Amino acid sequence: MDKPRFRLRCSITKLIFFWIAILLTILIFFHRTPSSNPNRRVLPSLPAWENVVVQSAKPLANSTTGQSVLVTGAAGFVGTHVALALKKRGDGVVGIDNFNKYYDPTLKRRRADLLRRNGIFVLEADINDSEKLAKLFRSVKFTHVVHLAAQAGVRYALRNPASYVHSNIAGFVNLLEACKTANPQPSIIWASSSSVYGLNSKVPFSETHRTDQPASLYAATKKAGEEIAHAYNHIYGLSITGLRFFTVYGPWGRPDMMYYSFTRDMLRGKPIVVFEGPGHKSVARDFTYVDDVVKGLLAAVDTAEKSTGSGGKVERPAQLRVFNLGNTSPVPVNEVVGLLERLLGVKAKKVVVPMPRNGDVLFTHANVSLARRELGYVPTTDLKTGLRKFVDWYLDYYSESNWKSAW
Ligand SMILES: NC(=O)c1ccc[n+]([C@@H]2O[C@H](COP(=O)([O-])OP(=O)(O)OC[C@H]3O[C@@H](n4cnc5c(N)ncnc54)[C@H](O)[C@@H]3O)[C@@H](O)[C@H]2O)c1
Ligand SMILES: *[C@@H]1O[C@H](CO)[C@@H](O)[C@H](O)[C@H]1NC(C)=O
Ligand SMILES: *[C@@H]1O[C@H](CO)[C@@H](O)[C@H](O)[C@H]1NC(C)=O
Ligand SMILES: *[C@@H]1O[C@H](CO)[C@@H](O)[C@H](O)[C@H]1NC(C)=O
Repeated sequence: MDKPRFRLRCSITKLIFFWIAILLTILIFFHRTPSSNPNRRVLPSLPAWENVVVQSAKPLANSTTGQSVLVTGAAGFVGTHVALALKKRGDGVVGIDNFNKYYDPTLKRRRADLLRRNGIFVLEADINDSEKLAKLFRSVKFTHVVHLAAQAGVRYALRNPASYVHSNIAGFVNLLEACKTANPQPSIIWASSSSVYGLNSKVPFSETHRTDQPASLYAATKKAGEEIAHAYNHIYGLSITGLRFFTVYGPWGRPDMMYYSFTRDMLRGKPIVVFEGPGHKSVARDFTYVDDVVKGLLAAVDTAEKSTGSGGKVERPAQLRVFNLGNTSPVPVNEVVGLLERLLGVKAKKVVVPMPRNGDVLFTHANVSLARRELGYVPTTDLKTGLRKFVDWYLDYYSESNWKSAW
């Protein structure tokens, strides 16, 4: 009588074993699959963009520096050139940009395409998004942050003043918060502007001249940035270098800037508006070619000392620097128009009007002896040479064949 019951119990036991074995196999299988991905093993809950970020941030095998650099505003004009130059020498580079519509976002997308083809990932995010930044800084230990994201332009502040506060003040503070919390803290190199000299009339502009008379909201937010940098350096031991750029121009440039819009309008046969000062005084700018600025910026990265804070303590005072990066030779606007006329083979239809008092200053002129001494900065491109490179790029970029092949 006992035998069948035993047999029954035996097959139930077998059945249970069988199912447990299958369940275990399934469990082991699912457990193994994700961890075969090396990135996942280290950081199990990373969303897809974070994996891409980690890859992009890795210094190349031939890197002499072993650095990982975050470039904010990487889809911007200067940001694109800087990111490419860093990558070319082997640094790991990650970009961040919100691709805002201040000017043609297609141009920003195409710059980011160029970066992607060179192994640089640009995260689409706002620098005022603290959660995104926290995630980004958790995924990568950046050695340097090159901060170029900003609301640029002087006259746009009349229409959208809030955008300057959002990016240049709130966004900058948010970025510095992420930097001071990071362990180890990165060194920061960021773009201030020649506009901080405002109504200063001593020439050439020197770092020691007064910068408390801004002529535009843009200038005021850049000046505020320099003061905010001072505070974060003082309190948290962040190593910070501010670079005052002087009218940077070149290929992949900014459509809202004078040399770019003049080129566009002259090629379309449209009139261009040329501002002049009181008493028919010519407006002049110290135009600086983008490759010269990039060289100065990379030298600032290479001479930046490490930040000195960690876990809320500051070991010793950290480095705080400000440099002019200009060309030291202001060019009157009329001469710029003349150069463009010759390069484009088009006669400009000039409409000369008095410069309105809405933010622009009459002239800029950099004294770069401090940058020469500390960074070895020597600008070598004159306006004629630089504008030729810009025009070559412009004609190629807007040629129909280029757009056909791109889409
Ligand atoms: N080009 C010049 O002549 C010049 C002169 C002086 C200072 N600067 C400064 O140099 C830096 C770079 O200038 P640029 O000419 O390349 O300008 P740009 O407008 O081409 O680049 C800035 C980039 O930052 C991005 N950005 C803006 N706000 C952002 C935000 N809140 N979050 C994320 N991304 C944001 C924009 O989308 C843009 O791609 C800026 O800080 C600018 O103020 C430029
Ligand atoms: C480093 O290697 C990359 C390709 O891996 C190359 O594009 C770059 O030119 C190299 N840089 C140097 C300085 O050798
Ligand atoms: C910036 O972000 C903070 C939240 O992190 C928000 O409170 C603030 O309104 C934002 N500032 C601007 C000017 O957009
Ligand atoms: C430029 O600045 C330096 C200080 O950095 C100063 O010694 C020099 O006299 C200045 N040059 C001119 C022409 O003002």
